[in-house]
Amino acid sequence: MYITDDIIYAGVNDHQVDLFEGQYRVPNGMAYNSYVIKDEKIAVMDTVDGKFTHEWLDNVEKALAGRKPDYLVVQHMEPDHSANIQNFMKAYPEAVIVANAKTFCMVGNFFRSMDLEGRTLEVKNGDSLSLGKHVLNFVFAPMVHWPEVMVTYDSTDKVLFSADGFGKFGALDVEEDWDDEARRYYIGIVGKYGAQVQNLLKAASALYIQTICPLHGPVLKENLGHYLEKYHTWSSYGVEDDGVVIAYTSVYGNTKKAAETLAAKLTEKGCPKVVLCDLARMDMSKAVENAFRYGKLVLATTTYNADIFPFMREFIDHLTERGFKKRTVGLMENGSWAPMAAKIMKGMLEGSKDITWLNTTVKITSSLSEDNLKEIDAMAEELCREYIARSDEKANKHDMTALFKIGYGLYVVTSNDGTRDNGLIVNTVSQLTDNPFRVAVNINKANYSHHVIKKTGILNVNCLSVEAPFEVFQNFGFQSGRNVDKFESWETCRSDNDLVFLPKYINAFMSLKVEQYVDLDTHGMFICTVTEARVMSDKETMTYTYYQKNVKPKPETDGKKGFVCKICGYIYEGDTLPDDYICPLCKHGAADFEPIG
Ligand code: FEO
Repeated sequence: MYITDDIIYAGVNDHQVDLFEGQYRVPNGMAYNSYVIKDEKIAVMDTVDGKFTHEWLDNVEKALAGRKPDYLVVQHMEPDHSANIQNFMKAYPEAVIVANAKTFCMVGNFFRSMDLEGRTLEVKNGDSLSLGKHVLNFVFAPMVHWPEVMVTYDSTDKVLFSADGFGKFGALDVEEDWDDEARRYYIGIVGKYGAQVQNLLKAASALYIQTICPLHGPVLKENLGHYLEKYHTWSSYGVEDDGVVIAYTSVYGNTKKAAETLAAKLTEKGCPKVVLCDLARMDMSKAVENAFRYGKLVLATTTYNADIFPFMREFIDHLTERGFKKRTVGLMENGSWAPMAAKIMKGMLEGSKDITWLNTTVKITSSLSEDNLKEIDAMAEELCREYIARSDEKANKHDMTALFKIGYGLYVVTSNDGTRDNGLIVNTVSQLTDNPFRVAVNINKANYSHHVIKKTGILNVNCLSVEAPFEVFQNFGFQSGRNVDKFESWETCRSDNDLVFLPKYINAFMSLKVEQYVDLDTHGMFICTVTEARVMSDKETMTYTYYQKNVKPKPETDGKKGFVCKICGYIYEGDTLPDDYICPLCKHGAADFEPIG
């Protein structure tokens, strides 16, 4: 199979494997990919699992069509890819292994009798190797998934050989959805190393990539944005889909009944997706994958030997091992004489960051009581609050407690110029009166939104919660709606005034109608009445201080002289900053800059 005119697939399918890496069920088998790049010199990219020596060597020989390989590039030393290094070097005695220092150390440990004297080429991060017209560029990707891993970019054909990255379970001769088995693979195998995957994505974002050639799963050629976005979500521990996972264990069926009652309540209230996981019976890696996929998780188990039921303990261990965070979690416990499961489960997740605990915990003593049914209803209400608030039919559109979410916070003000939706970050919103409810919003006249709102007289104020990632600020704060469509990649929800409100990252929004305009020279103040107000969640409001401390990445000022913008991190290089200087990214003035160092 040709990937490009010069790159040929030489991998194998494995339908003998039952448990990949000794633990992951792979009903559709596994693919171990290897590639041959033919040029003046020939490079073979990685080998395959030890069970497929001859099949793979046959594939390589066929791809070579009578020529001999010059290099074996070893990107990853895990035996599913490296088991045939010695066999390859015997078959092609002129070939040289290209790898990094850590890899060569592992090669020595795995193949103790192999003599590589004069047959190695050690590369460093950022080195390149010319094959003729193809140039291979090596980028180290430690801990994606082992410390020696590197990926390779062929700058001629714009191909990224991504090692385990972008891989999935499943052989290539079986048709199946990429997302599900790639997610289960990612969460199971690489899930712990989100920060390292983010580093790799950052390096990849500087490359023009047309094709991704992973070591497992299909070669990716189309719609690469989809795969990159999935990897971005997974590696940043973001919520991929709305919904609630109820993970439970049950000894005599009472905890199961509670879990199923909650599931029915959630469905009745309009929860977009409910996933019930019987931890004793379902594939554990599937349950773990679901916990990372959805935004909310309910753990329901029995007290057992003064601890919790073993499958629940195993499940939570899998979550914490993989850095579970940024989720809403609720607890249901059952215990006939000394219930303690809720306390133990909560304790096990103590080290997990950014967990929002539900106010309601369901405490069952043996079987469901009337009080338990009320608790389950309250829990479903809490879990569905933001989904209901988003719903045009079910939302309470006059919940003026939404105004309590106004603090010295950060907001996305949304508007529409008649052709497209727009959004802008502001930090100047305040409530003026409560009868009628009036709110003031101050906007810099240089911003396109000021112009739009002055013309249309309507706006939505979206109160950002602490969940909002830096990308929200980049999208709405560092570019102008005159030039770009800021909602291009957003799912849009609309309020009654037909303006958009953000479907996530907010704890409330208000629809406003402008009553008065006050000209404040550089800014214009819109004094507005509230036409609609919805509370979306109980998450804390994103304050300016929280943003500075926890969201905004540290600017890379090392080795630079000048001034850095405290709002967005833009660096002005120069000895003096003009008094009238305006940050080209976020449009804040010189007062928001500070000297570097
Ligand atoms: Fe596919 Fe980490 O080996």
